[in-house]
Amino acid sequence: MARRIVVANQKGGVGKTTTAVNLGASLAVMEKRVLIVDCDPQGNASSGLGFYPGDRRDNIYSVLFDNKNSRKAVYETSVPYLDILPGTQDLVGAEVELVDKLGREFYLKDLLLTLDDDYEFIIIDCPPSLGLLTVNALCAATELLVPLQCEYYALEGIAQLLMTYELVKKRLNPDLDILGVVLTMYDARNRLSWQVKNEVRRAFPENLFEVIVPRNVRLSEAPSFGKPVINYDIKSKGAEAYLALAQEVVRKGGEG
Ligand SMILES: Nc1ncnc2c1ncn2[C@@H]1O[C@H](COP(=O)(O)OP(=O)(O)OP(=O)(O)O)[C@@H](O)[C@H]1O
Ligand SMILES: [Mg+2]
Repeated sequence: MARRIVVANQKGGVGKTTTAVNLGASLAVMEKRVLIVDCDPQGNASSGLGFYPGDRRDNIYSVLFDNKNSRKAVYETSVPYLDILPGTQDLVGAEVELVDKLGREFYLKDLLLTLDDDYEFIIIDCPPSLGLLTVNALCAATELLVPLQCEYYALEGIAQLLMTYELVKKRLNPDLDILGVVLTMYDARNRLSWQVKNEVRRAFPENLFEVIVPRNVRLSEAPSFGKPVINYDIKSKGAEAYLALAQEVVRKGGEG
């Protein structure tokens, strides 16, 4: 069974996609077989790995209602061991089409189960909402990873996310656990970043990752080249942080 990690936070721009792509790529560097699933109609994880919206290739939407052919929507990336199931704007339609389907929360889970044997890690990137796509992702996963941006309102909305997590765990997916909270865009020169770190540490004494992802311009530049940061600037602080995060994720899974 693959470890299925959902990267979620309904707040926009907190580093979900950056974390999904770079954690996935860093695990792949460790020779873990990884699939990144782009569950966001914005398709940022896809374009960040060189798969663009106009490509018109098969994608998550084209196989969401056709599980038998799920593999035709999976592509190898430029990183060995790293595959992607791209997302497109069509996913906006999926959210609407799913609404009146029986078992509407489990379409992504059923799809990913057909691919599970091929991977050690499946990493799902979510849109900035708690709609049906995110709920599908929470139902398809075994572990929840929450990126929190180091800024004044970092914890705002977290209560609602945790409530959704509890509800999903209780009613829909008892297998879902919290993997951890990771701080992103940390600026050591900024007093606020430091305050937020302490506040988050108090709120999540057991679930905060040791690794803190710094604000690093290489992380924001890499996607425009369709590459994860390890293939863009392996020596950058951003690459270093995500490689360390991958090691921590592996450790937390008890694999050493
Ligand atoms: N550690 C970082 N240092 C510098 N820039 C970063 C860092 N992490 C993310 N960014 C940049 O911040 C912006 C938002 O990041 P990202 O797209 O990962 O957030 P998101 O939560 O996926 O956003 P959305 O909610 O829109 O999906 C992007 O331009 C990204 O390149
Ligand atoms: Mg995103």
